[in-house]
Amino acid sequence: MKRLLKGGRVVDPANRIDGIHDVLIDGDRIARVGRDLPVDGATVVEIPDGLIVCPGFIDMHVHLREPGQEHKETVATGTASAVAGGFTAVACMPNTTPVNDGANVTAYILARAAEANLARVYPIGAVSRGSKGELLADIADLKKAGCVAITDDGHPVSTALLLRRALEYAGMFGMVVIEHCEDQTLKGDGVAHEGFHASSLGLRGIPGAAEALHVERGALMSELTGSAFHVAHMSARSSLRSARKAKEAGIRLTCEVCPHHFTLTDALLGAPIPYDTNTKMNPPLREEADRDAMLAGIADGTVDAIATDHAPHHYDEKKVEFDRAPFGIVGLETAVSLSLDRLIHTGLIRLPRLVELLSVNPARILGVAGGSLSEGAPADVTIIAPDLEVRIDASRLRSKSKNTPFDGWELRGGVAATLVGGRTLFRNEGVRLNSL
Ligand code: DOR
Ligand code: ZN
Repeated sequence: MKRLLKGGRVVDPANRIDGIHDVLIDGDRIARVGRDLPVDGATVVEIPDGLIVCPGFIDMHVHLREPGQEHKETVATGTASAVAGGFTAVACMPNTTPVNDGANVTAYILARAAEANLARVYPIGAVSRGSKGELLADIADLKKAGCVAITDDGHPVSTALLLRRALEYAGMFGMVVIEHCEDQTLKGDGVAHEGFHASSLGLRGIPGAAEALHVERGALMSELTGSAFHVAHMSARSSLRSARKAKEAGIRLTCEVCPHHFTLTDALLGAPIPYDTNTKMNPPLREEADRDAMLAGIADGTVDAIATDHAPHHYDEKKVEFDRAPFGIVGLETAVSLSLDRLIHTGLIRLPRLVELLSVNPARILGVAGGSLSEGAPADVTIIAPDLEVRIDASRLRSKSKNTPFDGWELRGGVAATLVGGRTLFRNEGVRLNSL
């Protein structure tokens, strides 16, 4: 079956395309991108003015919670949330129960993903067995089973030596080590960013330096081993400074930032809802100078990717004292609107750079398919409506969990449709799109 997406603005930075083009999809592949392509028996889908056709977005940091915590999310509900949010693929973190530290868990996740048949799922394996920070996991085994990277996310890799070994092994298999950068002695039992707001609410603080120390450690271990190191959910201005310095020195370091860290600050801890546990995540919401540094890093190219750290938690688990609530918020269905509203409509960056952050670079960092609309590539396509008025309604999220601080927010820009392997898996009822 052939489909011709006709007349949209195609933004495909990997092929230096930004303009009105047609995209011909043949079955599950991109057949051609060009101006005024012949219809040639294809079903024509007119792309209305103002919509943008992009290579499918890839969220490289998602917690799908299966196996073991299916009351928060499953592979099926998480990937439904992904396609509704414009993501054609997600990479899922290993902090499930049991931890994804071996081929059996990886195979289980992939089987659930095949069953759900929605967004593509790329499992990420653990660095250490049970993510306990003692013995290395069987990294060759994880790679063979289909893992695309390793991490002990939720926690940092326990020691510099273990990180060094992880980088050495992962490097042999061409895999990146993703680090939850956090010095645990500095974090202590902190629950929020160390500063005015945490102090005034009587909450124990986590300084930005806890993160930056481990960005430095990772950069040094990457330099020592020559292997690729990726900073997860970067939030502190000192971390950005370290990342920039490492990159200038030619170290193979990449980094991601989450939408909540480039939109929110710790002022949200006290108002409008004091102690709202939907403002609790790790790393925490930081102060304005940190938030602005994340925006600056997005603008100047230091930041490689936008990832959500989609961390679903059940209502009952979040509905407790701030101290006792788990860290994390859902992110898959709010990321694109937040990015369009806060990065594009403010004039900070332009669409090709956004597509780099959401598609090209995640694909490159993980070494997975996608990131372009090249001939022969999988027909994974995200169509965005940059001027769509969106109102976030937590109760209507596809995710099983509703823990978001963005409930009720009105944003400019949203997802019009999501195609995975040529199949339309999400179409926004608010956007006119015939026969897609
Ligand atoms: O906020 C977070 N939630 N940060 C993490 O590192 C882990 C995650 C989770 O698994 O809930
Ligand atoms: Zn983390």
